[in-house]
Amino acid sequence: MLITEDKPLKAEQRDMSNILKFKEKNEITDLNVRNKRVLVRVDFNVPMDQGGNITDDRRIRYTLPTIYYLLNENCKIILMSHWGRPKGKVVESLRMDAIARKLREYLPLYRIYKADDCIGNEVKAMTNKVNQQQILLLENTRFHPEEKKNDDAFAEQLANYADVYINDAFATAHREHASTCAVAKYVEEKAIGFLMAKELKFLSHTIAEPDRPMTAIIGGVKIEDKLPAIANLIGLADNILIGGGLAFTYLLAQGYEIGMSVKDLTFVDKVKDLVEKASSVGTKIYLPEDFIVTEDLRRIVPIDIVSSKEMTSSQIGSDIGPRTIKEFTKVLADSKEALWTGPMGMFEIDEFEKGTKELAQFLVERNITTFVGGGDSAAAFEKFDFEKDISFVSTGGGASLAVMKGELLPAIDYL
Ligand code: 3PG
Repeated sequence: MLITEDKPLKAEQRDMSNILKFKEKNEITDLNVRNKRVLVRVDFNVPMDQGGNITDDRRIRYTLPTIYYLLNENCKIILMSHWGRPKGKVVESLRMDAIARKLREYLPLYRIYKADDCIGNEVKAMTNKVNQQQILLLENTRFHPEEKKNDDAFAEQLANYADVYINDAFATAHREHASTCAVAKYVEEKAIGFLMAKELKFLSHTIAEPDRPMTAIIGGVKIEDKLPAIANLIGLADNILIGGGLAFTYLLAQGYEIGMSVKDLTFVDKVKDLVEKASSVGTKIYLPEDFIVTEDLRRIVPIDIVSSKEMTSSQIGSDIGPRTIKEFTKVLADSKEALWTGPMGMFEIDEFEKGTKELAQFLVERNITTFVGGGDSAAAFEKFDFEKDISFVSTGGGASLAVMKGELLPAIDYL
């Protein structure tokens, strides 16, 4: 249901310098890296199961173009990344050995060494031993508390390993840490890698200079994360479709009963203000018309489809319903581009996957240019096996959200 005025967007003249700043930076192909020692910040923060097996290696696979390019340029490559949140201490289960094994699977023709630390004399000696067309993977940078403090001395030690610094870690670009930020101060020649460039070009195009109409699909549960992005997209997006857990705080702000569904009362007034602002600039905000509801999340039985206006106090909205899917796809049918973050329902549970799946399928079938950002949305596209068919699924959750909010990514700023 449309909750704002039905009028065309008055696209706002907005300062886009934060989002477009990466265009002023070097790309890897702008540098002469031939035969050089190159330090590459990647984001190998990949999910793993309890047995320590990597369950999704996209972040590794997507950095291969940068690695291949440097191998072909006869470089000595030093890779560094964080993994998990070890809080400045060595955590055995977060050592990078499993990542090194995965890299060796993808690059069987190349020698890949793995260091047991990321700084210190031994590591320095290893970096000197790495030959052309060989790779050294450093140990988890977050084993040192200095990493998260963006510590200069720590960053300088990392920088001293190489002649060139490449940042290809889009997914960590919103963190002001030593290996993503301060390190850039100590290397003369620096640039963004292919993955970083691809992510930023795609995302900034969708937000700052989209083919119109552009529709943002925003779902997920955490309203405090998504609200600043919605605020920034008002005046930029032609339409915003709101689903997932977020929708209930919006419905509450409109005066509807939402039963036991997730909500955050602290944001109700802010939501009202945003709806008013959207009406004044012509960004149309749509909320779900109906929901699949359940009454007990432990038993996971979809018990009914109810109109958003008729929810009872015991019901829990768990996915958007068929009328909403119809309305949302109608809006998407008229859109030239889409930006998607956050699922429409509890897609991990098959009974509540339909809303997310059908919208995703529609975008794929209609070939609508779509940037998908955020861990949960990426997981949904992976579950439905649509990842290869959609324009681009980002490797970054927090980082893509930061760009959607209009924030400057510190890693880009330092470059
Ligand atoms: C991510 O997965 O979002 C990045 O790797 C950053 O990780 P962090 O949220 O632990 O800083």
